Amino acid sequence: MSVWAVLAAAGSGERLGADRPKAFVRLGEQPLLAESLARLDASDWVDAIVVAAPPGWEEPAILLAEELGCGKVSACVTGGATRADSVRLGVAEVPADAAVVLVHDAARPLLDDAVVERVVTALGEGWDGAVPTLPIPDTVKRVDGEQVLETLRRDELRVVQTPQAFVADILRKALSGSDWTDCSAAVEAAGGRVRIVDGDPRLAKVTDAADLDRVAALL
Ligand code: CTP
Ligand code: MG
Repeated sequence: MSVWAVLAAAGSGERLGADRPKAFVRLGEQPLLAESLARLDASDWVDAIVVAAPPGWEEPAILLAEELGCGKVSACVTGGATRADSVRLGVAEVPADAAVVLVHDAARPLLDDAVVERVVTALGEGWDGAVPTLPIPDTVKRVDGEQVLETLRRDELRVVQTPQAFVADILRKALSGSDWTDCSAAVEAAGGRVRIVDGDPRLAKVTDAADLDRVAALL
């Protein structure tokens, strides 16, 4: 069973507001992308990697992979205008005989192999997809403008992280559908059964400068 990772790193990082795309902003000694790339490459669960790089940053991404000795990187594609486009372009490089596609955001650098194991092994139990999630500590309300419409049942809610694993053929079909921000939403919309597994608080996403400091402190 071959597992292909698609690493979405093509965003511009507008909210971070740096002088370069988020994937190339320094985290510790290296570009942010280095952390997730090296961790995916080192994972026994991952056979090959496709990186979606920001336009104009394909070459630096390939050089970084070489510097890190990431021998599993099989392709580096130019990302698209949205995350969904970048994932589609990355998945297009995954060969037809791949069994599983693992989609991960470079913006979540602190990838623990135990999470990869949890999502990939869930597919072996017959699920179409598996996503890491965390419980929500706060009460969440649905609102309309200033008015509260309802208070949601917290035990029915989860926040979702990446890496997300999918049966390759099911993901490919689902991605042809339109608007989605999260791959599992596309698979769910296509009728796929997606399982939740335990996420990891350290997998927090780097969105703004404060996140970058927080994640750097966890390195
Ligand atoms: N991503 C991507 N292609 C895009 C947009 C986003 O591959 N066109 C990736 C980002 O590189 C990131 C992940 O999707 O790893 C999650 O996106 P987000 O955190 O929103 O990153 P950015 O879009 O770069 O940040 P911003 O929205 O602040 O511009
Ligand atoms: Mg974005």
